[in-house]
Amino acid sequence: MCGIVGYVGTRASVDVLLGGLKRLEYRGYDSAGVAVIDADGTLDTRKHAGKLGVLRDDLEATPLSRGTTGIGHTRWATHGGPTDENAHPHLGDAGKLALIHNGIIENFGELKAELAAAGHTFSSETDSEVAALLVGDAYRATGDLTTAMLQVVGRLEGAFTLLAVHADAPDVVVGARRNSPLVIGLGEGENFLGSDVAAFVEFTRHAMEIGQDQLVTIRPGSVEVVDFHGNPVETKTFEVNWDASAAEKGGWSSFMAKEISEEPEAVAKTILGRVEDGLVRIPELAGLDDDTMRAIDRIIIIACGTAAYAGMVGKYAIEQWARVPVDVELAHEFRYREPVLSPNTLVVSISQSGETMDTLMAVKYAREQGARTLSICNTQGATIPRESDAIVYTHAGPEVAVASTKAFVAQITATYLFGLQLGQVRGTLTPEAARELVAELQSVPEKLTDVLANGERIRELAGWMADTRSVLFLGRHVGYPVALEGALKLKELAYIHAEGFAAGELKHGPIALIEPGQVVFVIVPSPRDENSLHAKVVSNIQEIRARGARVIAIAEAGDVAVLPHADEVIRIPLASRFFEPLLAVVPLHIFGMELAAAKGLDVDQPRNLAKSVTVE
Ligand code: F6R
Repeated sequence: MCGIVGYVGTRASVDVLLGGLKRLEYRGYDSAGVAVIDADGTLDTRKHAGKLGVLRDDLEATPLSRGTTGIGHTRWATHGGPTDENAHPHLGDAGKLALIHNGIIENFGELKAELAAAGHTFSSETDSEVAALLVGDAYRATGDLTTAMLQVVGRLEGAFTLLAVHADAPDVVVGARRNSPLVIGLGEGENFLGSDVAAFVEFTRHAMEIGQDQLVTIRPGSVEVVDFHGNPVETKTFEVNWDASAAEKGGWSSFMAKEISEEPEAVAKTILGRVEDGLVRIPELAGLDDDTMRAIDRIIIIACGTAAYAGMVGKYAIEQWARVPVDVELAHEFRYREPVLSPNTLVVSISQSGETMDTLMAVKYAREQGARTLSICNTQGATIPRESDAIVYTHAGPEVAVASTKAFVAQITATYLFGLQLGQVRGTLTPEAARELVAELQSVPEKLTDVLANGERIRELAGWMADTRSVLFLGRHVGYPVALEGALKLKELAYIHAEGFAAGELKHGPIALIEPGQVVFVIVPSPRDENSLHAKVVSNIQEIRARGARVIAIAEAGDVAVLPHADEVIRIPLASRFFEPLLAVVPLHIFGMELAAAKGLDVDQPRNLAKSVTVE
């Protein structure tokens, strides 16, 4: 939520900032702005409501200075609507200081009153301007940007990443973070700051983490990190394991189209290096030794949105394979209900960004209560993995489109790998059974490639349904979270009313929604399923068809039994029960994207959303 870039070096900073903002725009796109300091110590700012393109067009028409120090921001509005005035940067010290902010300053009301009493006036409705004025005043008193920022962060409550530059300190950018993301990019004679590594990966893949309540001062030849008391801290560097082209569209019509096409690779890369002699061995799980794994008596998966649906799929598999009770909870609900936890409870967080504030707060809370924590995360250097006892990275590569797609299949894959290893260690899976499951998991990428190659029919259906007002999705067992995911994609991308239901639940109420012509997607389990779920789902289809529903079934190749009951059948390759969701979700991802495109909507940046939700 809100993308932040800072640069100091030898390049024209406005170019670096615009490039970085373009790659961070998925974090928020209500407004954008930059501030650049000239060699002669002039601070120039430009900011606009609207997407980054509005700012870029203005900068092309009337260029800013080519100064080599600057900060840039792309906003997701919290305090104050998306207007030019509320866009960042905000100014302090009579226009000589510029500051950008991600997060929420909770005590801004009282700070604002204090500033007003001291004679300040405000040009925006934001909490961020309060920080700009405070740092400006502190700079005037101390003449040092790092000291000024240190004085102010101690007074702020809430979550924030702040970057500031001052005209009188032309080769310095200072950044500070509390519960909000910030990463350092290390270059030769130049350094970078970004909300995530996408901000600077075009220039350097050498990065450094910044911990909570830490402050960084970058100059062209140095990087200094201190805590909020000014004491030096130990830092950790890492290499970004993807390059700038991974975060470019590369000829696709949208990032989402590209990312759906990468679903096979996301699964394959998440498995890579984690199978030995046909069994799962996740090297990173060394932090949770075998005795600890055996002692776990309960697992709680916490996540939000699509990541929570991946967790729901994972629950079914982990319980089945490792025979440990698993609950899945929305992180924001978990955090505030005083859950009962013990050292034998493992809390597994799932997050693509690794920055979702609701999930982060839940992880911290779980740790405070003595539970063990495992993070399944897609983003290196993110906060949630750093707050956890162990990490299993999903290797889906950078996900830029706001709606999650490839991360979803990678998250399911990671929970499966974890469930398999747990089952192996606890002896609830024989080596033979585990090997069979691992082999089937390894076959998923190829099957996903087939699903993508056969996407024509679902595209056609989406093209015809641009005027549809409501779509329902039904599934059972692991098909149920897939139904929820299909509905979420349609809501957020195409702004269509959509609901996902457990198919068995329909007769307990929702069936009243069915009227002639109502489109219902049904995830049909394999007819080979040993619990005869197939027959039950076919009965559910009959119930809704009898009431006029138009049924689009997602069913495996060769399932002829479903044919008489569905208006359309979208085929997926044969897969046993636990592997079907990985395949069945892809047509739903395509459907959501194509329907939104048919309505002329921006599939990468749906309205009101931001990719990384760093406020609670
Ligand atoms: C939906 C979507 C969101 C995210 C949710 C969690 O398409 O992308 O529901 O899944 O905001 O985000 P992460 O995984 O970054 O914690």
